[in-house]
Formats: sequence, C-alpha cells, structure tokens
Amino acid sequence: MLNIVILAAGKGTRMKSALPKVLQTIAGKSLVAHVIKTAKTLTDNPINIIVGHGADQVKETLAPIDRLNFIKQREQLGTGHAVQQALPYFPKDEVVLILYGDVPLISKETLLSLTAVVNKNSLGLLTVNVADPTGYGRIIRDVNNQVISIVEQKDARNAELMVKEVNTGVMAVNSAHLHDWLPALSNTNSQREYYLTDIIAMAKARNVCINTRQPVQEWEVLGVNDRRQQAQLERIYQLRLADQLLVEGVTLLDPSRFDLRGKLVVGTDVIIDVNCIFKGNVTIGDNVSIGANCIIGNTTIASGSVINDNCILEGAMIKHRCTIGPFARLRPNTVLEDNAKIGNFVETKNSHVGKGSKINHLSYVGDATLGEGVNIGAGTITCNYDGINKHLTVIGNDVFVGSNTALVAPVTLADGVTIGAGSTINKSVEKDTLALARAPQKTHKEWSRPEKIIK
Ligand code: UD1
Ligand code: CA
Repeated sequence: MLNIVILAAGKGTRMKSALPKVLQTIAGKSLVAHVIKTAKTLTDNPINIIVGHGADQVKETLAPIDRLNFIKQREQLGTGHAVQQALPYFPKDEVVLILYGDVPLISKETLLSLTAVVNKNSLGLLTVNVADPTGYGRIIRDVNNQVISIVEQKDARNAELMVKEVNTGVMAVNSAHLHDWLPALSNTNSQREYYLTDIIAMAKARNVCINTRQPVQEWEVLGVNDRRQQAQLERIYQLRLADQLLVEGVTLLDPSRFDLRGKLVVGTDVIIDVNCIFKGNVTIGDNVSIGANCIIGNTTIASGSVINDNCILEGAMIKHRCTIGPFARLRPNTVLEDNAKIGNFVETKNSHVGKGSKINHLSYVGDATLGEGVNIGAGTITCNYDGINKHLTVIGNDVFVGSNTALVAPVTLADGVTIGAGSTINKSVEKDTLALARAPQKTHKEWSRPEKIIK
C-alpha cells in the first residue's frame, strides 16, 4: 500500500504573512488541502503531514478533513529531517511518496507515473526543465545521462548552476531505503540543513536506480513561495476550471474573468457574464443566465431563471423561471418558488416567496413567508427585529402590499388582503380586506406659498 507524506512545516517568510504558508489559499482552499485532496485519491492509508511552523493553526484548519496523521517537526532542520520524522509510520518495504505542502496543483496522473517506477532497486524522482532554474536544486547527470546527485542552488558550482533540469521535490522511494538513508544524512552544507535531496547521491552509491519522470503539465510543480507565485497559480487554476466548464458547454463571456472557489454543477445552455464569483456548492439548471459581477455562494438556481447584473446570492434556493436583480441581495434561507421576481435593491433573508410573487424594488423581506401571486410594493420593510427577538411575517396568497409599508412582525396578512401605501401594519389583517394605517390627508384651501423676502 502506498504511503504518503506531505511536508508542511516551513514558515514561508517570503509570503510576508502571519498565516503559515501552507494555509495560504488557491481558489479559497488552503495550499495543503489541495495536496491532501490529490493524495487521498492515491491511497487509503492515513496521509502523513509534517507540521512545525504554526502547527496548531494548521491542525485546527485541517481538522474537518479525515484520514490525516499530523507529525510534529519541532525544529525545521531541513527537508530530509522533516521526512525522517515520519519514519516510524512507514512500514518496511512499501512505497513512500513525498509531496510538498506548498506545491498545490500536482496531478494524480503525474504522481501515478512516478510511483509506477519504484521498487526495491529503484526510486522515482520528479524533475522538470525550466527556462529559469534560480532557487531550485539542480539535477546532476553523468556522461551516460544517469542522475548522480542533486545540488542545491546555494551549494552549486558555476557549471552546475547552468543546469536547467531541476528538482520538483516530489519523490517516490521504497521505505526500506528511507529507513537506511535518512538517519545517515549530514548537514555539512551552506544552509546547515539535512537535505532530502542528498539521498539521491546515496542511492547512486548503493546502485539503486534513479528514474526521473516529468510532470504532465509544467505548472503542476510550481510552488507558492511569494504572493506573485500565489497569484500566478490562482489564475492558472481558475483558467483550468473555466476551461472545464467551456468543455461542459457553458458560455463564459470571458474565461479569464471567472472565479470558482468551490464546486459548480451546471446544466445545458448556461450563460455566465464576466466577473462572477462562485463559492461553496452552487448548482445551476438549464437555460440559466447570470449577469456580470454576481457573487453566488451555496445556492441552487433551477432552469430558466435569470440573475441580472450585480447580485449577491448566499444560501438561496431559486426555483424555475425566476428573475432576480440587478442589484439584489438574497441571504441564507431565501426560497423562491417558480416564476418569482426579486428586483433591484431588494434584500431577502430566511424567507419563502410563493409562485409568481414579486418584490420588485427597494425592500427588505426577512423572516417571512409569502403565498402565491403576492405583490410587495416598493420600499416595503418587514420589521422583523424588536431589538431583542426576531419575529415572523406571514403573508397569504394574492396579497397586495402598497409602497412604503412597514410590516411590524409578528403579523399575518390573510389571503386577498390589500394594504394601502405608506401603512405601518402591526395588527394581523383578515382575508380579502383593505388595511390602511397612515395619517389621513388634509387639504388646506386658504393657504398660499411663502414669498421671497427682499431685504
Ligand atoms: C526544495 C528542494 C529543492 C527543490 C525545491 C522545489 C531540498 C533540500 N531542496 O528546496 O531541491 O528544487 O524544494 O521547490 O529538499 N519543510 C519542512 N521542514 C523543514 C524544511 C522544509 O517541512 O525543515 C517543507 C516546507 O514547508 C516546504 C518544503 O518542505 O513545503 C520545501 O521546503 P523549502 O524550504 O521551500 O525548500 P526549497 O529551498 O524550496
Ligand atoms: Ca519551496
């Protein structure tokens, strides 16, 4: 069975952040969580994670993920020392795959190609040829093109610095070899660290064959060491997600202005305009169109619905053929039944809106249930909060609420009720009646406009 260890103890000084590096994110998910997700597809064994810098924070953040074995590296004495901490968890004579917590986009296919070449007499080393090898360990080969060692940038001589084939850090090694070699590492190098890379020369000395493989895509092995690299990887990742959606038949008006931080499930003939952000689990049915600048989290949108520009939807359930926005905000537990309409500058929360009901302009509807065919006039507010508790507003079918109405909850409007504009309603209203709660209009006949005073 395959054993996996992920190195995640480093500080990440160049991120200039209080957060441990492996908790920095790509697509809203920590770097190390990306690696864990891929690792889990390769083995049923617990995934070993070497933690050190910010260990408690790393453990706490990853706590919801199962099948992890955290191993503390008290002092960060180098990558070889880090892997050594996990030795007690590696049975003799099994394959160990070593991954880095700051190389998030490594693919399953690449890793499988590497683990396929490991046995008692050979190990797998993932290398890549790059235009600018600065900072990486260089792969040194002999005249027969066999790998003989890895030399770190800081220890390399001029000729070695010219080498463009570099160490990605990812290796697959028989555990028996790690048990033999890691305790024998020394730190007599420029960084006074126990380098994992030194096991390559040890392998060579013991006639263990070093098989190199290259990643399927070069970007898979890019590491995140600073904010520039993080931004670069974020866009690479987002373009890939966008590309998958294009393949699935989604129209993205500009794939380079699309962000997915979670999971998006789409039907056919979905159109997504520019600058939309999808978070958590979002499901979109057939023939849905989403305008520009929408932020949509944990929401389901059924077929035929239209989300106009600049809407923010969080935790909402939108059924068929609804129209929303522009500039609408749907907060958690908003449910819109078929053909409902939410217009501009409307906020809803914890509210159920019945079939064909409309809240078209400038309203707040919270902690409410609306029946079918209801019309909520512009500027209607459900006053759901008394300063201490939240209360419900219940509105029946075919209710008409005039503009600028305050519905002081708890309050019920039965079926067929009409509320006159400008009312403050704090008593429930019976079926098919008109309620009006505003100061009667007075008309003053003997009144003239003031005149300009001339000084
Ligand atoms: C390492 C490799 C280098 C390779 C490069 C690829 C070594 C000696 N060098 O260099 O050949 O080209 O990665 O990106 O292996 N870590 C620990 N504990 C430690 C030290 C590091 O857990 O004591 C972790 C870090 O959190 C990080 C990973 O190991 O996830 C790599 O460490 P880092 O210091 O970034 O190594 P590089 O200098 O980049
Ligand atoms: Ca690194």
